[in-house]
Amino acid sequence: MTNPGWPFVHNISTIFVYVLLGIGFATCSTDPLVQQKLDRVLKLPGQTFNVSFAHYAGYITVNEDSGRALFYWLIEADEDPDSKPLVLWLNGGPGCSSIAYGEAEEIGPFHIKPDGKTLYLNPYSWNQVANIIFLDSPVGVGFSYSNTSSDLLNNGDIRTAVDSLAFFLKWFERFPQYKGRDFYITGESYAGHYVPQLSQAIVRYNSAFTEKAINLKGYMVGNALTDDYHDHLGVFQFMWSAGLISDQTYRRLNLLCDFQSFIHTSASCDKILDVANEELGDIDPYSIFTPTCPGNVSQSNRLLKRINRVGHVSEHYDPCTEEHSVVYFNLPEVQKALHVDPARAPSEWSTCSELVNSNWKDSPRTVLDIYRELIHSGLRIWMFSGDTDAILPVTSTRYSIDALKLPTSGPWRAWYDDSQVGGWTQEYAGLTFVSVRGAGHEVALHRPKLALALIKAFLSGTSMPASELVSSY
Ligand SMILES: *[C@@H]1O[C@H](CO)[C@@H](O)[C@H](O)[C@H]1NC(C)=O
Ligand SMILES: *[C@@H]1O[C@H](CO)[C@@H](O)[C@H](O)[C@H]1NC(C)=O
Ligand SMILES: *[C@@H]1O[C@H](CO)[C@@H](O)[C@H](O)[C@H]1NC(C)=O
Repeated sequence: MTNPGWPFVHNISTIFVYVLLGIGFATCSTDPLVQQKLDRVLKLPGQTFNVSFAHYAGYITVNEDSGRALFYWLIEADEDPDSKPLVLWLNGGPGCSSIAYGEAEEIGPFHIKPDGKTLYLNPYSWNQVANIIFLDSPVGVGFSYSNTSSDLLNNGDIRTAVDSLAFFLKWFERFPQYKGRDFYITGESYAGHYVPQLSQAIVRYNSAFTEKAINLKGYMVGNALTDDYHDHLGVFQFMWSAGLISDQTYRRLNLLCDFQSFIHTSASCDKILDVANEELGDIDPYSIFTPTCPGNVSQSNRLLKRINRVGHVSEHYDPCTEEHSVVYFNLPEVQKALHVDPARAPSEWSTCSELVNSNWKDSPRTVLDIYRELIHSGLRIWMFSGDTDAILPVTSTRYSIDALKLPTSGPWRAWYDDSQVGGWTQEYAGLTFVSVRGAGHEVALHRPKLALALIKAFLSGTSMPASELVSSY
């Protein structure tokens, strides 16, 4: 790759052409409102409780020519949904399902018991404060598909943003009650690319078409891939200072990988990454202090592949949670309840698509240029980090933020939840950093209560809670 530049910037007009070609000239034959009603999910298999909120699942065609359709699951707020914002959640990979991770083990209300058949209600679901939409993105991930099989071998950042923008332009037609609603984009890991890229596409679309098509207010990313060079520095430093790798491997990682692409690594960098993985031993690098799932869950060798399991110290934490979702979402009756088209369903649903991951195309080495652009557009931008993740650790996020050279508006301090330190925060002009203490890569899986405090503060635009009065004695 001779051009490390960021092609998206130069291709933004191409995006509009794609979007218009893909959806502009095609009219849906069904009335969108009729389709909205058809998308309503009445009851899920294994749901032994009633819920007070409505939810909807289905497809939106994002490209007529190729036959690409993205699958979504909208879960409305449990009280007063009309007054609450709309929040999109995206998982990364690339190739991992936002329904598998975001909905079923992190921020969604429906979590799956170890039998793989029964559901329980997540008491810290983000639908207490927002209407949440989970999007399987791009095609080939989760239930999203393409009728052109080669599409699955040609996914990349640019088309993912194009298709996601096309998705929302059409989705708001099907759900007109959400038009003009405050909209926020959130996600983790490789969604550190998707989230700012989609935000940029929306901001540019809005300014090109004057009338504010989508009322985007801000975005928030967690343990996010942001800038390959700074992310590498931070990963290696974290692994060394946590005592996971040798001095020699630390030096060689910096020598051979610092200037490499994070997801398209060179052979020499790959080799030393293998050495590092060997030195780590059988720990969960996504959450270095929690037990691994004892079964033979395939452990990825690649550092960024999955945003997966791990667990935590709470009694409720189950390191095998990912396996339960594989059972559940492969049940034909579950797919039927979610309106999955049996003819378009993957022959076997998986949490992450290896095919999509290993054939990923364009992946710019940095998205900091997008941050610079969007900070000036007035969006609310937050970056959070679970501080026991060795995949995209807190050190990486801090190096990336430092590279933006933003003035500090609120100094570094601890934040509190129930009189305990929940993590640390620093506010900059245009960006807020929040760490979550004791959380791994999937912050809401390990620290669901702290994650709920985080989304509450983000959506209300307030600082993280400070210490309550400390009683002196
Ligand atoms: C759910 O609601 C239905 C209809 O109101 C009721 O018959 C049923 O007992 C409820 N189930 C539970 C578990 O509360
Ligand atoms: C994919 O092809 C099937 C069969 O022709 C068709 O019913 C479906 O609408 C197509 N999907 C999209 C997104 O065009
Ligand atoms: C574990 O892996 C072995 C070998 O691949 C396989 O035969 C076995 O069925 C797996 N066990 C479980 C519980 O998945």
